[in-house]
Amino acid sequence: MELKSLVLAAGKGTRMKSDLPKVIHKVNGIPMVEKILNELDKLNVEENILILGHKKELILNELGEIKYVTQEEQLGTGHAVLQAKEILKDYDGDVMILCGDTPLLKSDTLKEMYDYHKSTKAMTTILTSIYENPFGYGRIVKEGENVVAIVEEKEANEEIKAIKEVNAGVYCCNAKELFKALDQVKNDNEKGEYYLTDIIKIQVSENKKISSFVLKDNEEILGVNSKVELAKASKVLRNRKNKELMEKGVILIDPETTYIEDTVDVGRDTVLYPTVILQGETEIGEGCEIIGNTRIIDSKLGNNVVIESSVIEESIVEDLVTMGPFAHLRPKSHLKNKVHIGNFVEVKKSTLEPGVKAGHLTYLGNATVGKNTNIGAGTITCNYDGVNKFDTIIGEEVFIGSSSMLVAPLNIGDRALTGAGSVITKNVPAQALAVERTKQLTKLKWRK
Ligand code: UD1
Ligand code: CA
Repeated sequence: MELKSLVLAAGKGTRMKSDLPKVIHKVNGIPMVEKILNELDKLNVEENILILGHKKELILNELGEIKYVTQEEQLGTGHAVLQAKEILKDYDGDVMILCGDTPLLKSDTLKEMYDYHKSTKAMTTILTSIYENPFGYGRIVKEGENVVAIVEEKEANEEIKAIKEVNAGVYCCNAKELFKALDQVKNDNEKGEYYLTDIIKIQVSENKKISSFVLKDNEEILGVNSKVELAKASKVLRNRKNKELMEKGVILIDPETTYIEDTVDVGRDTVLYPTVILQGETEIGEGCEIIGNTRIIDSKLGNNVVIESSVIEESIVEDLVTMGPFAHLRPKSHLKNKVHIGNFVEVKKSTLEPGVKAGHLTYLGNATVGKNTNIGAGTITCNYDGVNKFDTIIGEEVFIGSSSMLVAPLNIGDRALTGAGSVITKNVPAQALAVERTKQLTKLKWRK
């Protein structure tokens, strides 16, 4: 496809009242400009070129490698596009211009718009919307079917303000023709800016045909200029995500109170209860049950896992694991098949082999625990001496007595035991019993 995109993202976003540039504010978990680039990727555009300016380093940090040009001073949307003239000087294909602050546009819509643009052979096609409350948007002025101008809110008289067809901020045009018109745009308007929208009246004066492609779903037009609109856009994307998952067979008890970011995937017949939060690169298998107040971020869960009121960060949880309430997996934890961790158990950078149980009040850090080992209530791996971290290696079918303090580095062999309340500082060979406590003193009839 002879199509490149230009995404405008140089503006300050003053109305956001933020220290961050507008376009990296997240909508349902992804920076809004990235959301637009993701949609463009589905379109097979030859390349995307960003126009960056205000705090561009922060945007580049967020997006990684990306082609861009810089607009040093933000003199308006027309001036912004003009910055790409040099980089496109040998290109005679089409460009699609989009704003970095309209994250609800769908790739299907953009594709239909481009096909329409090709079929009408218009010089420029504008994406528009018929909007009950057009306030703030540029109005589409038409003569018959043809667009003759776009007038910004600030320049509009009462008659124009009454027009309900508004500019959604997406344009298709041949690159050469675009820059030819842009060279003639002036800044003699209320804001003293070079408006991209002024190319329309210039092209019209040269008898070029301008079409509008009207959005079927008005929801897609929303431009994010404030934090109220940011929340609105996020909500739309969240609803879309929830619907997509339900259509795939996921059960959401109450979609209104379930927060699932765009990047998450969930398998069929998994049940998500109210107040569940799933974030980042998270993947959840089939037939799981995730119950209230659970937050899972950047983690992978297998099938038939049951989690209640717990936090899982950057970890792997295999099939049939049960967890919680009030358990916490910190980064780099790996719970294999049928592991159970219960109330107030914290695991960090540890691997629990299949069938391990740690039911209550335990900390396992920098540990490896062998198959079917039982960790008694109140056990702690003492993995930190104030400077360094040390490993604890526990074998298979070990029985760790309640309230054992396992002072690392430590090795406990297969089928060994530790007595309740012991402070274990030396390695325990396989099958041995290690007890570390003074003999009990019992004074008969001590109390009168
Ligand atoms: C713009 C349109 C308006 C349309 C609306 C749709 C113009 C003049 N107006 O208005 O007709 O209805 O979008 O949402 O184009 N930007 C730059 N450099 C600049 C100025 C802006 O890169 O010098 C970028 C911004 O970062 C933003 C985008 O362009 O991503 C749109 O700018 P914004 O100021 O939000 O334009 P609107 O007033 O919303
Ligand atoms: Ca805007």
